[in-house]
Amino acid sequence: MGSSIRLGVSSQYLSAQELDFLADHTCEEDSIYLEISRLKGFESNPLLMPTAIRDQILLNEENVLANLFPGLSLECAAHNLASRLDRCLVASLASLISPESAILETGTYGGFTTAIIAFVLDRNGFNNNLFTIDLPTSEMVTQVHHIDVSSIGSCIPDRLRKYVIQIFNDAKVALPSILADNCVELFIHDSLHTITHMMFEYVVSRTLMPPYSILASDDILWNSSFVEFVRMFECPFWVCKSNPNYGFAVNVPHPQERQYSWGPQPIGSYMKAMRSRSVASTFKGLKV
Ligand SMILES: C[S@@+](CC[C@H](N)C(=O)[O-])C[C@H]1O[C@@H](n2cnc3c(N)ncnc32)[C@H](O)[C@@H]1O
Repeated sequence: MGSSIRLGVSSQYLSAQELDFLADHTCEEDSIYLEISRLKGFESNPLLMPTAIRDQILLNEENVLANLFPGLSLECAAHNLASRLDRCLVASLASLISPESAILETGTYGGFTTAIIAFVLDRNGFNNNLFTIDLPTSEMVTQVHHIDVSSIGSCIPDRLRKYVIQIFNDAKVALPSILADNCVELFIHDSLHTITHMMFEYVVSRTLMPPYSILASDDILWNSSFVEFVRMFECPFWVCKSNPNYGFAVNVPHPQERQYSWGPQPIGSYMKAMRSRSVASTFKGLKV
């Protein structure tokens, strides 16, 4: 019970020790962004903080909110977004990846997270590929939703679709090949939340992504896979203060893994590209 209070939530699936472990890594979203950007060798950039990105979307230029929350009043849509700093943190991290690299999300559903990431890529003038995977069946019952395939990705605004590559396949099939063929520097799990599937996605992405790439995951309180994963691989990790069910880890590799290359890039080039990339002045329309 004490652990649940510290974390601000209860979870029937995790032990008190596991909840304490997560509570010890709970941070404000802006602080998580700053810590990960420093770990990746960037100066901090206030324009790209999760709260700044949320405020940009709330301006509702080009009707982004109506696309993200179809059917809701503007006020209600703004309220929904304001409580989703976890997703704004995911999107702010999309600013920390190198030009040739890609972003990969499992579990597109309506495309809420996909759309926020595409919004940031667009604002930054970046053209990284954003892969998003969901199941191909025409109607499916997931753990929490009934979904028709026509609604998968339906809240991605048309003007942002050019960044998005939608894959209709089981993540267990599509994930390894996309990771092997592309230099994915940001991976987001939000598909099937069973312990086996989550552990599969974490380990495969951790293995095939380059050093210091970022792994984000929703529903980390649904089972112990995220806790086990960060412990097993000794990854630095953080839990979102606004939503303790959302976690972030950085892929710090074993030194011997550095001899291999990731994706189409020659060894080491992504780190060089990352450091030389200037993101400070590219988030158009924002003033500090
Ligand atoms: C919780 S929803 C995703 C929510 C979405 N990321 C968002 O931010 O709104 C989970 C999605 O995962 C998909 N899914 C479930 N099992 C999957 C699998 N094995 N491979 C790919 N997608 C899967 C479901 O069809 C569903 O659309």
